[in-house]
Amino acid sequence: MGNVHVDLGTKSYNIEIERGLLEKVGKKVKALLPKVEKAAVITDSNVGPLYADVLRRSLEREGLAVTVLTFKAGEESKNLITLGNLYGGLAKAGLTRSDMVVALGGGVTGDMGGLAAATFLRGIAFVQIPTSLLAAVDSSVGGKVAVDLPEGKNLVGAFYQPKGVFIDPNLLQTLPGRYLHDGMAEVIKYGCICDRDLFGRLEALQDDGDLLTHGDEIIEACCNIKARIVEHDEFDTGERMLLNFGHTLGHAVEKTFRFDTYSHGEGVAIGMVLLTRQAEKLGLTVPGTAERIEGLLKKFNLPVSVQMDQADFLKAIALDKKKRGSEITLVLLKTIGESFLQKIEFSGLPKFLPDGDAS
Ligand code: GLY
Repeated sequence: MGNVHVDLGTKSYNIEIERGLLEKVGKKVKALLPKVEKAAVITDSNVGPLYADVLRRSLEREGLAVTVLTFKAGEESKNLITLGNLYGGLAKAGLTRSDMVVALGGGVTGDMGGLAAATFLRGIAFVQIPTSLLAAVDSSVGGKVAVDLPEGKNLVGAFYQPKGVFIDPNLLQTLPGRYLHDGMAEVIKYGCICDRDLFGRLEALQDDGDLLTHGDEIIEACCNIKARIVEHDEFDTGERMLLNFGHTLGHAVEKTFRFDTYSHGEGVAIGMVLLTRQAEKLGLTVPGTAERIEGLLKKFNLPVSVQMDQADFLKAIALDKKKRGSEITLVLLKTIGESFLQKIEFSGLPKFLPDGDAS
């Protein structure tokens, strides 16, 4: 059982990590938000059939009136139309400002459920119950909530912190292998950017079974890292950008393949390796770092290369929302466990890309 506190003044909250937590989450929610009478559980068509009833019963045992709102699973649902339907469901369920939203699912559910909570009635309480590894270690923590536009991912959103995050590592057992590995890319990222010891522990894992056995402590380590970073930089203007290691190239990969070939974690995996290889050539990263990352990613079936040339990367990155004016901030490693931000002119980007002249 683990507990990570996120200290954000009046917006502080706890992340609880415990096997079997889903069944007792009603009691936790009631203790956290005693005035709540109605709860809307937002979930998707994959997760809802598996876990919504257990959650509903747990909340109802505490006297809450529960409405379950289910949308079609997939990133393509994370849009203003689905969000509009969710608002309709919240209104129909008669939620008031003293009620709450529970986001039960992966990153799409947490992001969209969080945005619904942030904006319905100008903001009602919400808690996150992440059911994927990626959501547990990244998207459910830190208050970034959003939906996509046809023009790009996460373009409409807010910073809106949950009242609590409840992680039941047992739920990872029903996660298809590809999605478990998707989350592993973010886990490995944490090791890369600031925790050499975590990276070593991941290297020592034998297989997925071993990963699931150690799930609790791995999730806790990642949440601790994320909590400390978010505490220092809630609104993503400095240190929080370190969490974007591998993401600039990764998003370019996802986008170039129209978001239907590579998952987010797979894109990040490729991005971490390609960028680090170039940074080594530029003398910014200790030699051998990319190879070590590559070895660990491969162990979890993550891709480490892609059929894209430099022009493909430049085209995709030109529209990246992390770009500010003509500048872009890259996250680079000195070595495993030590990262830094490097602001560069967009015109200087080619030397950080595959086939770039790093001389
Ligand atoms: N997923 C990156 C962040 O929360 O800043």
